[in-house]
Formats: sequence, structure tokens, C-alpha cells
Amino acid sequence: MARKIIIDTDPGQDDAVAILLALASPELDLLGITCVAGNVPLPLTSRNARIVCELAERPEVKVFAGCDRPMKRQLVTAEHVHGKTGLDGIDLPDPAMPLQTTHAVDFLIETLRREPVGSVTLVPIGPLTNIATAMARAPDIVPRIERIVLMGGAYFEVGNITPAAEFNIFVDPEAAAIVFAAGVPITMIPLDVTHQALTTRPRVEAFRVLPGRVGPAVAGWTDFFERFDKDKYGTEGAPLHDPCTIAWLLNPDLFNGREVNVEIETEGRLTLGMTVVDYWRVTDRAPNATFLREIDADGFFALLTERLARL
Ligand code: RIB
Ligand code: CA
Repeated sequence: MARKIIIDTDPGQDDAVAILLALASPELDLLGITCVAGNVPLPLTSRNARIVCELAERPEVKVFAGCDRPMKRQLVTAEHVHGKTGLDGIDLPDPAMPLQTTHAVDFLIETLRREPVGSVTLVPIGPLTNIATAMARAPDIVPRIERIVLMGGAYFEVGNITPAAEFNIFVDPEAAAIVFAAGVPITMIPLDVTHQALTTRPRVEAFRVLPGRVGPAVAGWTDFFERFDKDKYGTEGAPLHDPCTIAWLLNPDLFNGREVNVEIETEGRLTLGMTVVDYWRVTDRAPNATFLREIDADGFFALLTERLARL
């Protein structure tokens, strides 16, 4: 029986690769894609998600537009990384497939109320605005969520959008605080993991030579978005953040981590959006997340490449 998932996303080239990996994996039943404002504004993230589905020749996938700004703050975007469209790197036509008319938050609530308790896994790979808004509007859905597997946060690796905070959490810290306090099992894939999953040249060339349109598209996106992180970190490639969530669903043995308490800073002048991880258990705060810290990067890229070849 395939695992039912909903991907909540702000595409973004790395989001796009995560969606493609999910679409290529029969172990997963993608009930829908809910879009949120993040890397680029909502009209673009909800456009980009459909472009990715059509690239995979899966126009039947249901794509929903959600919140166009954080719960309590102005939107912060990341065009400096992802480009003006959010999918810079290759030119793809505007999507023909329609957006669903239901709001993403209503889709999350309706789906969680309809599907059996504990049968739907949420995979947020952008700011947590849609997820937290659904929880706040319909608290009854919280115990019905099987697990939340999210890309976000950082601890030993520190922040990427500020010295203290990772982008997805920083954009909507109040939403992240709601999600981490909800009591739902959380698998957290932070920068500590994703900064080990670098798009080195051999890995990108392995994408480029894949048969069909998907591999070359992923290589083209990577050629564009990796420039920012390579300059900033002086590394051989850029972190391929979001597909790590899907890889964990497919093969958790590629990762290692521990149960810890994670609190979200929502007031800090310098630390707003920081994920404060009690990794050494110096407080009595109850563990609320599995914080992953290691990844088998070669195994991850082998899995990703093998799956993309199927599209
Ligand atoms: O900090 C990395 C995260 O921010 C990734 O999800 C990337 O797509 C951006 O949303
Ligand atoms: Ca993202």
C-alpha cells in the first residue's frame, strides 16, 4: 500500500526536484501539492508546481494555492537564490493544467478529515504557513496527521538567511512555532543534513545524461541555483535541500539523527526564526522532533538519479 503524502512547497528548483522524486516513486501516493509563498510569491510558486508536474507528464496531479504571506509578518523571498521566476535555469512553457479552486488550507483540512486517522504524511518543504493555518483553523486534524517530514531549521550548521535562522523557518517563525508545538511526530531535515548533499559536477552530469527531459531539466536548474551557494560557501556544489525529505520517506537508513526538543525563536532581535535545538539535553523540555544530522550523500544521489531516470 503506497504511503499517502501531501507536499507543501514553494518551488524553487530544489522543491521541483523533490516533487519529481515523489512522482517517480510508486511507494508514495501524492494526494496533492499545496503551494505557499516563500522562495517567490504565491502566483509563481503555484505556477512552478504545475510546470514541474507537466515536465513529469503528470498533469492530473492536484495543485492548490495556499497562503500568500506569513501568518503575522511581511513575506521575505529568495529570488537572489532561485531567480526571478523561482525556476530559473531552463525555459519551460507556462502550465496548461489548472490550479484547483479549493484553497490549499481547505484541502489540507478536508483531506485529513476524510482519510483514515494516521494515514496521511505531510511533507512541508517551504515556510510552514499553510500547515500552521490549517492546524489553527481546524485543531481536530492535528491528531489525524501520521507524521510531518519537513525541510527546515538548522543547529550546528547555523542559519542561511540570517546568521541564526534557516529560510523556511525565518519566513514564518510563528507558523513554525505552532507546528513544533502541535505534538505531531516530526522528522526534521535541517541544513545540518542538506549541506552534506552537495550538487558536485559528477552528480549533476549524471542528471544531464539521463534519457528524456527530466534529467537535463534538473541539471539546468542546478547549474543556475548552485552558483549562489558555491560562491557563499566556497564548496564544490550547492545543497540540494528539499529532495532529502522524500529520500527519507523512501529510505530512512540513508540518514541518522536523534529525538530532541526543538523550540522556535519568535521574538529575538538577532535570532528570529532560529530553531533552538536542545541537542545535549541541557533542559527538561520534552523531545518533539527527530533531528537528522547525517546523510549518506552518495546513497542519496544514487537513489535520486535512479528515480529521475524513470520519468
Ligand atoms: O533554506 C532552504 C530552504 O529554503 C529550501 O526549502 C529552499 O527551497 C528554500 O525554500
Ligand atoms: Ca523549498
